[in-house]
Amino acid sequence: MKTHDAAAGGSSALCLIVSVTLGFTPNFIVLKRALLCCLNSVMSFIEKSVARLDQLERLEILARELGKSHFRYNAPPKYFGYVGAEFICAVRPILKDRWTPELEQAWKTLFQYVTGIMKDGYLEEERSKRNQTLTSGKERPDKRNTAI
Ligand code: HEM
Repeated sequence: MKTHDAAAGGSSALCLIVSVTLGFTPNFIVLKRALLCCLNSVMSFIEKSVARLDQLERLEILARELGKSHFRYNAPPKYFGYVGAEFICAVRPILKDRWTPELEQAWKTLFQYVTGIMKDGYLEEERSKRNQTLTSGKERPDKRNTAI
């Protein structure tokens, strides 16, 4: 699979422009950041995911941690789906007639699976940070008692 060729090609940017023109993307800046900062990492993550398809427990741990890190990057799950769509848009023209509906479905299934777990990790991290904030708020001394 020539995933790195796909990352280097201009088709992804073209896909993005087409999507924006057609009004598919609600937030161009967020998506642009995802593509620029994250696309190479996405490619290496996909390689790892494919390598772990017969060890789903390991893939789940990886995807959950990735979801947690995306909470820290302020990259919410509502945008995860665009990355898989971008990937398919980029790879499809490279594989030409070797691209089949079954292959497309297989990639969509993989992205749905991984982004579903990423979303769980993201929400877990969000809850844990919220609880930490609440706890540290409770531990802070009550200012009314320290006056005078
Ligand atoms: C299928 C969805 C996605 C996958 C598989 C993915 C994968 C990755 C990976 C593997 C990294 C490397 C760092 C790490 O392991 O934590 C990364 C970083 C990052 N991602 Fe994503 N990502 C996805 C979606 C998104 C989206 C939708 C956004 C923005 C809305 C985004 C923004 C970022 C940012 C800002 C970084 C940090 C880049 C840096 O500091 O160099 N990602 N992503």
